[in-house]
Amino acid sequence: MAHMVPIEEPTPDQAAEELARLAAEIARHDALYHGQDAPQISDADYDALVQRNRAIEARFPELVRDDSPSRRVGSAAVAGSAFSKVTHALPMLSLGNAFSAEDVAEFVARVRRFLSLDEQEPVAVMAEPKIDGLSASLRYENGQLVMGATRGDGTVGEDITQNLRTIDSIPLALRGEAVPQVLEVRGEVYMDRPAFFEMNARLEAEGAKPFANPRNAAAGSLRQQDASITAQRPLAFFAYALGETSEPVAASQSELLEQLAKLGFTTNPLSRLCSTVQDVLALYEDIYARRAELPYDIDGVVYKVDRFDWQSRMGFAGRAPRWAIAHKFPAEQAKTRLKQITIQVGRTGALTPVANLEPVTVGGVVVERATLHNQDELARKDIREGDLVVLQRAGDVIPQIVEVDLSARPVDSVSYKFPTHCPVCGAQAVRPQGEAVRRCTNTLGCEAQALEQLVHFVSRSVLDIDGLGEKTIRKFYEDGLVKKPGDIFRLHQHRETILAMEGFGDKAMDKLEAGVQAKRSIGLDKFLYALGIRQTGQATARLVALHVGSIHAFRRLTEQLNSDDEVERQQARDSLLDIDGIGGAMVDELARFFASAENRDIVNDLLGELEVSDVEAPKVEGSQLAGKTLVFTGTLRKMSRAEAKVKAESLGAKVSGSVSGKTDLLIAGAEAGSKAKKAADLGVTVIDEDEWLRLSGVEEQEGNEGD
Ligand code: IVH
Repeated sequence: MAHMVPIEEPTPDQAAEELARLAAEIARHDALYHGQDAPQISDADYDALVQRNRAIEARFPELVRDDSPSRRVGSAAVAGSAFSKVTHALPMLSLGNAFSAEDVAEFVARVRRFLSLDEQEPVAVMAEPKIDGLSASLRYENGQLVMGATRGDGTVGEDITQNLRTIDSIPLALRGEAVPQVLEVRGEVYMDRPAFFEMNARLEAEGAKPFANPRNAAAGSLRQQDASITAQRPLAFFAYALGETSEPVAASQSELLEQLAKLGFTTNPLSRLCSTVQDVLALYEDIYARRAELPYDIDGVVYKVDRFDWQSRMGFAGRAPRWAIAHKFPAEQAKTRLKQITIQVGRTGALTPVANLEPVTVGGVVVERATLHNQDELARKDIREGDLVVLQRAGDVIPQIVEVDLSARPVDSVSYKFPTHCPVCGAQAVRPQGEAVRRCTNTLGCEAQALEQLVHFVSRSVLDIDGLGEKTIRKFYEDGLVKKPGDIFRLHQHRETILAMEGFGDKAMDKLEAGVQAKRSIGLDKFLYALGIRQTGQATARLVALHVGSIHAFRRLTEQLNSDDEVERQQARDSLLDIDGIGGAMVDELARFFASAENRDIVNDLLGELEVSDVEAPKVEGSQLAGKTLVFTGTLRKMSRAEAKVKAESLGAKVSGSVSGKTDLLIAGAEAGSKAKKAADLGVTVIDEDEWLRLSGVEEQEGNEGD
């Protein structure tokens, strides 16, 4: 770069010429870097080009080009956005946790109850180490690896095929003769500990930042834009589950693991089939004891009901299967000094005390902050500023303070006085009777709440606007561009202001506008969840949306909830309480939210910008039960109430807890009581268990047998 003219001297013409050259050159290196090709210059040389560009622009601001590298976000300097998204053919789920032997026994008991198994029937469970890595899904078509993706949010992940292809234990082609046409294999990418230490030593020798633990190192390696870098990282893969397949591969988890090994995958050698809770717990203890000798990190043992037919009967609750659970190892502990207690104000106004700590490593991660939960918790443990505290961290859980080391308490220590006013807006913070949480009363006037509400609104599980992350929305809020959700849809009016912000170029602005535009139409369930009403999480929002059907009906319902007419109010409440899974507290919060004129304004403003589409229960073809409202009562012999409900819902029916005019069918098991009588009074069709088993297809129609 010796030929470059020092920036103090160039004439405007020379500067313009050089900016043009730099823009083209940097764009070329960006393409080389982001594409699969190897970059042609070092990072340092690349940075020098970017810096020179910036220096010239600072001196000649009027010469900044539209295509200037300084106006682009997501260039090489900003890593992590260049992978394309993939929607998983089958969602990638998470697991529920067990922390004790009782939890494990309860899991097996739950399986028995759900499947209505009798005492003698053994429940075989596959136990596998829970690898502390990152899950990935590999898709093979006609035996060839065609796609590899991260888990992402479980529904949509990122295409990291090129990176996964560099891992030796991931076969590029399946072994054996009879390979299915489509086979998705899921498992864990991890880095083993010796390789991790070696790599960190190398990074440090090169002056680069080492990784905190093997899991972070594996994650960082998988996120490389340049697969040749991933190839140098010592990654490995254990296979443990299936995604989509064109044909059945196995009838059980144990058989699946055998098949996967035959197809060329590595499966974990410590996995065992267990037939009793005692066996399971013995294996857990054994694996726990050997944990330190293993060359890779594990954070528990996963138990899976072995039989696939049972797995499919059990299905899922939320994002986790009912047929599996993760038995976590006990948390790791460490001691450190608590420097200061600060108060955080959340989306719903909750005042949460936070411990600011002397940094300490627990379970391989540096911890500087820990939640103190709430006022009572803080008082109960009598945690004070200056205390030496015992800190605990289990898996991916937020670090917790277990106790105070009283022998090390400073003599001048005073107990913490919980504020009675919001530290952000100064309004009174109250604590309703029977609640542990103190809340700021200034719902919308409180900046912290308004801001957290916006952060929720754009978050990944809600609107997930491309180009509008948490940091950006915080900045827009600070700058007054976005004060309420509707403002997001008017951001295009501030184009010039935004372009003048640091790090925001034309490209980022275009992406943001396109991202916002793409979310102008939204399903009713998402919309309800987005409002951030207390007690209305994702699942509840969906239940309500399915129940009311349209935004129109929802608005009417919320008006009725706050009607002056008591009968109308009660009817509205009852219609919600009728939904299985919805309780009084949720209905109260919903009513309270819409009682506020400010909240109604926010919703109306938003509805002026958005189109909210109706939500319907998925149509199940050929099912006589689709769209019907069912009530179960009495005892069923062949399946548990839980299984019956899951079955009914899979056939497109709604299950309600009480009989009303809207009930289509009452299924009366043995010893059915008052509900059966009420149904008869209302003229609702009542059927018995056998009829139900036929109707739901669990048992073949009579007369078809022997065909
Ligand atoms: S099975 C539907 N098996 O744990 C079951 N998961 O908390 C899905 N994991 O995202 C997972 N070892 O990343 C399963 N032997 C194992 C596992 C395992 C580690 C991870 C996986 C998953 C997470 C769930």
